[in-house]
Amino acid sequence: MLIDANGRAVDYLRVSVTERCNFRCLYCMPDKPLSWVPHSEILRYEEMILFIRAAIDCGVKKVRITGGEPTLRGDLDVFIKMIADYAPNIDLAMTTNGFLFSDLALKFKNAGLKRVNISLDSLKRDVAGKIANRDVLLQTLKGIEAAIAAGLQTKINVVPMKGINDGEICDILERCKSWKVSVRFIEYMDNSHANKRLRGMRSDEILAAIKARYEFEEIERDCKSPSRLFKLPCGYVFGLIEPHRDEFCASCNRVRLTAEGLLAPCLYFDEAKSIKAHVKRGDGLGAIGVLREILAAKREKNRFGEEASARAFYETGG
Ligand code: 5AD
Ligand code: SF4
Repeated sequence: MLIDANGRAVDYLRVSVTERCNFRCLYCMPDKPLSWVPHSEILRYEEMILFIRAAIDCGVKKVRITGGEPTLRGDLDVFIKMIADYAPNIDLAMTTNGFLFSDLALKFKNAGLKRVNISLDSLKRDVAGKIANRDVLLQTLKGIEAAIAAGLQTKINVVPMKGINDGEICDILERCKSWKVSVRFIEYMDNSHANKRLRGMRSDEILAAIKARYEFEEIERDCKSPSRLFKLPCGYVFGLIEPHRDEFCASCNRVRLTAEGLLAPCLYFDEAKSIKAHVKRGDGLGAIGVLREILAAKREKNRFGEEASARAFYETGG
């Protein structure tokens, strides 16, 4: 069992397999970063898996593959299978922009992936294109439909932004309802790499926009998820993620491994320690020692608005 400095059990590992991305979302990396970490600095799958296995042995029950955009890394199905073969009962998920997913969904499902979260910030081609800085909508929709058809448990992520997609909240909800997949509206998290003029909608503004078209009630949240949950009279459930509420951090059960081999306890802080040397010499237990050090120093909550990490979300694994 892994316990952090504040007594929280940590059983959720997010693994970023690459910091690279084929989108440039306004809230993440509006301009291309000046330089990517060279391939030679990125952990090999075998090195990541050594740590993942050891972490599962210590009580990790959920692994989420993230990026950057994880599907840009080759042979991702092989990596999924390595995890699934070791721990078939683990909750194995991925977060993706869905752009390449139409050709990959079934492969990933067959390799052992169970769940996927796909970003869909607009249903308008020009707006989606403006947000991602690339004409992405049609391909993303194909990716979502392929994920559903492959039998992956699918959720949609939306970041509502004032003056950009704020008028589309109900339309996106309606589309997700017709797909029978849950949507989660995520409050924009300010960060030094995002477009500076961006203004996110607060959760009360998001709920007010939904109230204009739907009745809903808040239901008890799943203690494993950071999301508040709401139910429409027809039974459809949507979620709201408010990273700035204290409850968000109080229920934090996660730790992150970056593609370069840094273990980061929180998106919002620079603190991180490398397990690269350990995994390169095959020392899984040594890497777990680093994990325990990191968790012993994990802070109680983010200091949103006061302290920001210089490391981008796409580097840490958003
Ligand atoms: N604020 C809120 N959500 C973000 N994401 C990425 N950057 C941010 C941010 N600054 C979320 C998006 C995307 C997923 C990878 O992470 O929903 O779908
Ligand atoms: Fe890429 Fe995801 Fe960042 Fe968008 S949010 S630029 S899809 S890593």
